[in-house]
Amino acid sequence: MNKQNILNEAARFVKQMLGNDASGHDWRHIERVARTAHMLARKEGADEFICQLAALLHDVADEKLRSSEEEGLAEVSAWLCAHGVEESVREHVVQIIATMSYKGGHNKPVTTVEAQVVQDADRLDAIGAIGVARTFAYAGAKGHLMYDPDSPFRQHMSHEEYRSGRSTAVNHFYEKLLKLRDLMNTETGRRIANRRHRFMERFLDQFYLEWDGRDMD
Ligand code: ADP
Ligand code: NI
Repeated sequence: MNKQNILNEAARFVKQMLGNDASGHDWRHIERVARTAHMLARKEGADEFICQLAALLHDVADEKLRSSEEEGLAEVSAWLCAHGVEESVREHVVQIIATMSYKGGHNKPVTTVEAQVVQDADRLDAIGAIGVARTFAYAGAKGHLMYDPDSPFRQHMSHEEYRSGRSTAVNHFYEKLLKLRDLMNTETGRRIANRRHRFMERFLDQFYLEWDGRDMD
């Protein structure tokens, strides 16, 4: 099978697996990440096929969607094997997916330029206007509040509070989204992240302004 056919098949595979999942892992997220990964790969001189393939398959192994990450990675590997993807590419794609997740920002930095590209592409989709929208959609799907003014953690929330379920959509900005700009790997990704970061800051300023009724004079 040629590379374009494999990419088309991978897209078909994840499309029917993820469909319209409302927790932020829908097919359109994958489509955006794959497109961004392709653009970043071209600009950063990374392997375009590997980046697009890993981007298309990156959420198949997500722990939130299946019982274990290993099970998901094994499925990705089996899929690549069944579609005649050569071993070196297969191993690289699986390694990218296994190492790219955020894990509270405590994961080791990824090493190959292809992994850097796909991680940046996924992170870019978590910030900016789309990032804001996904965050509130996720919070809604989980039954979280959008904001809790009584929470002392407007600026910060510890992992304990987070785990105890008092997470709100607004807290997620401080927990993760506002940290992503400084974690970008590539120059191109950083430039886009800067603009999206500033948009989120403006969004939060306006959110608090309206929440407190300070925009009414
Ligand atoms: P991905 O790996 O594609 O970035 P995640 O599984 O981390 O996806 O999350 C899916 C979407 O939901 C992302 O936009 C993310 O920022 C958002 N999200 C994740 N956890 C929370 C949370 N606790 N509250 C609000 N939004 C969240
Ligand atoms: Ni993702």
